[in-house]
Amino acid sequence: MPDRLPAEDPRLERILIHPEGIRTRVAEMAGQIVADAAQLPRLRLVGVLKGGWVFLADLARAIRRQDGPHVLYEFIRASTYGNGIKGDDETERDVTITGLPEDIEGDHIILVEDILDQGFTLAAIRRSLLAKGAASVRVCVFLDKQIDSPSPAVRAIRAQLIPDYVGFQVPDRWVVGYGLDIDEEFRDLPYIAIAREEHFCS
Ligand code: IMP
Ligand code: MG
Repeated sequence: MPDRLPAEDPRLERILIHPEGIRTRVAEMAGQIVADAAQLPRLRLVGVLKGGWVFLADLARAIRRQDGPHVLYEFIRASTYGNGIKGDDETERDVTITGLPEDIEGDHIILVEDILDQGFTLAAIRRSLLAKGAASVRVCVFLDKQIDSPSPAVRAIRAQLIPDYVGFQVPDRWVVGYGLDIDEEFRDLPYIAIAREEHFCS
């Protein structure tokens, strides 16, 4: 059965990445992670809730299918945007992080997140993990948003935050599905769709 937007929801514009494309790409990313971890005794994957939940679940099983290394899984919670869509003119964001693992001294960590946008969230989490003694923190994002006109602050953050593993680059639009939401909706869509922001911005 072909993928359809839910009941022709007028808030969604079109499907951007279909499930088959997602599956193929996640397997490739797992292959890269397995190859890079060949010399490591073990790996710790730290998923960022809520958005990273679907991606990490697929990635974990793809790593196992490729006879990957011993992996420990952790989940942290980060909230950056509250419940809504960001403004264009922001220069800073408060990031609240909860549930950081305690015993990570000397560990090699891969941070797994749904999307890299302005970069505030991942920069803050990476800083916290390194401060707790992680030996290395790599960044794995399913989507990398290509921001049209980044502010100087965003440009600076993104220059310091080149992700090690990227699923897909996406345009500077609000996307949903595969873990990503608007106001907690659409996380369970099995594809990535572009939202019509005019339906959400007040
Ligand atoms: P950053 O700090 O600007 O990189 O924001 C990253 C976080 O904002 C992600 O973890 C998502 O939770 C959220 N986010 C950014 N862009 C989108 C989007 O297009 N759809 C859904 N969530 C998004
Ligand atoms: Mg998120």
